[in-house]
This record gives sequence, C-alpha cells and structure tokens, in this order.
Amino acid sequence: METHSCNKRVALVTGAAKGIGLACAEAFAKAGYITVMADIEKPVGQAENLDLKGYHAVAWQCDVSDTEAVRDMIDGIVAEYGRLDAAHNNAGIQTPQRPMAEITDKEFQRTIDVDFKGVWNCMKYEIKQMLKQGGGAIVNTSSQGGVTGFPGQAAYIACKHAVIGLTRTAAIDYSSKGIRINAVCPGVILTPMAKELIARNPSLETELIRDIPAGRMGLPSEIAEAVLWLCSPGASFVHGHALLVDGAFSIH
Ligand SMILES: NC(=O)c1ccc[n+]([C@@H]2O[C@H](COP(=O)([O-])OP(=O)(O)OC[C@H]3O[C@@H](n4cnc5c(N)ncnc54)[C@H](O)[C@@H]3O)[C@@H](O)[C@H]2O)c1
Repeated sequence: METHSCNKRVALVTGAAKGIGLACAEAFAKAGYITVMADIEKPVGQAENLDLKGYHAVAWQCDVSDTEAVRDMIDGIVAEYGRLDAAHNNAGIQTPQRPMAEITDKEFQRTIDVDFKGVWNCMKYEIKQMLKQGGGAIVNTSSQGGVTGFPGQAAYIACKHAVIGLTRTAAIDYSSKGIRINAVCPGVILTPMAKELIARNPSLETELIRDIPAGRMGLPSEIAEAVLWLCSPGASFVHGHALLVDGAFSIH
C-alpha cells in the first residue's frame, strides 16, 4: 500500500497547458493534489482557472528536453511543497507526417529530445526524489502508437515504443522501493487541436473514427481518469503496465 506522510499530496503534470495534460492536471487538482502544471510556456492562466475553482494548481515553465531545467524544476517543487507523490510525464510533440527517409535530422532530434529524452529526464529526477521520500507513482504518456505502427510518423512512433520500454525497465528497477511506474497509451483523443482540425475539415472526423471499434474519439478526461487511477492506491499492484485507452483501435 502507498502511504503519504503529509496531508497534501503533490502531483506534477508536464505538457499541462492544453489537451490531455490540462485534463490530467484538472483531475489531480480536483482529487486534492497540489498540482504543478509544467509546460514549455508557463501556463499561468490555466493554473489560475483551476485555483478559481477552489483547487490548488501552480504554473511552472520547463522545457522537458533540458536536463538541467528538469532537475531544477523537481528541486524547486520539493523546496516549495516538500515532496512529489505523483508525476505524469506527458509533454510531447509530433513530427510532420512524412515517410521515414524524408524526416530531417533536425526533426528527428527534436522529437527524440522531447518525446523520449524528456520522459527520461523527468523520470530520473522524480525517481531520485521518490526514493528519498519512500515512494510515489509515475505515469508516462505513450500512445496507441507505442504498440502499433503509423504511416509517416517514424520518429514519433519510435519514441512512443521507447517510452514503454523505459517504463517497463524502470518499473522493475524500482518496484521494490515503493515506486510504481506505468504508461498510458491514448488512442485518438478529441483535444482542442483535433476539434479545430475537424471544424476546418468536417470529413476528417469520419476518417479518424473509421478504424476505432468504439465508434468515436476519446476525450482528454478519459485519459485523465486512467492516469489518476494508475497513481492511486487502488492500482497498488500495477507496475510497468502500458494501459491502452483507445476504444479498441489497437486490438481490432
Ligand atoms: N491527442 C491524441 O490523440 C494523442 C494520442 C496518443 C498520444 N498522445 C500523447 O499525449 C500527449 C499529450 O498530447 P496532446 O494531444 O494533449 O498534445 P497537445 O499538443 O495538445 O499538448 C502537448 C503539450 O506539451 C507541451 N510541450 C511540447 N513540448 C514541450 C517541451 N519540450 N517541454 C514542455 N512542454 C512541452 C505543449 O506546449 C503542449 O501544451 C503527448 O505526449 C502525445 O504524444 C496524444
């Protein structure tokens, strides 16, 4: 069983300015966590909106690809709030859609730096703190593309596979130390970006849901529910799992 020695649990969500990260930050805040919302641009307004609802959210600027910035962020959170109970390493970018050999070295490198090294950086310093305090829970955002292929997204998909490998191996390394490490694999999720794309091109919705047996896209809140559960004592024996939340896309 996980125990928390202080009343206020502390959660970190990266990529919390919008989309899945924003929904996850809201879910953590609603569940009573002091929720640190980190993004490449400080999400001040988003944190204020949650505070106005009576929750405790804090905006933090951090580029997850910058190792020192990540270390400083974790140190800063611990200096301010004393601990880190839950971390959702969610920040991610996509590469422009092109066949593999046409992806430039620069695009490849930035994708690796954010989508893989960013998760690596965050986990490294989160784990160091969780070891000091005697436990914690980490969820990394992979994708349905972490277990399948997808045309034109070689660098992104390779990173999402790597996130699952990293999650599984770190889970083995730290499961006996009270740290649970899991991944969530979202399917096609109706984020604000997807809504905008559909508003401009209504036929896109049909194309997107054609291969989803559940017959619809997922909602950011449905990913948030899964992440919150993976971080909860209810998931106390769940280690190194890659949880698909994809309306059966990847199994049909
Ligand atoms: N939306 C989907 O359908 C879907 C499906 C599968 C996986 N995912 C994954 O879920 C995660 C969130 O996706 P989303 O759809 O909410 O995307 P989004 O673009 O709406 O949000 C991503 C957030 O990450 C932030 N970010 C980007 N680079 C960063 C960096 N270097 N440091 C800190 N923050 C950075 C962005 O500013 C943004 O706020 C990503 O890892 C993505 O790969 C999304």
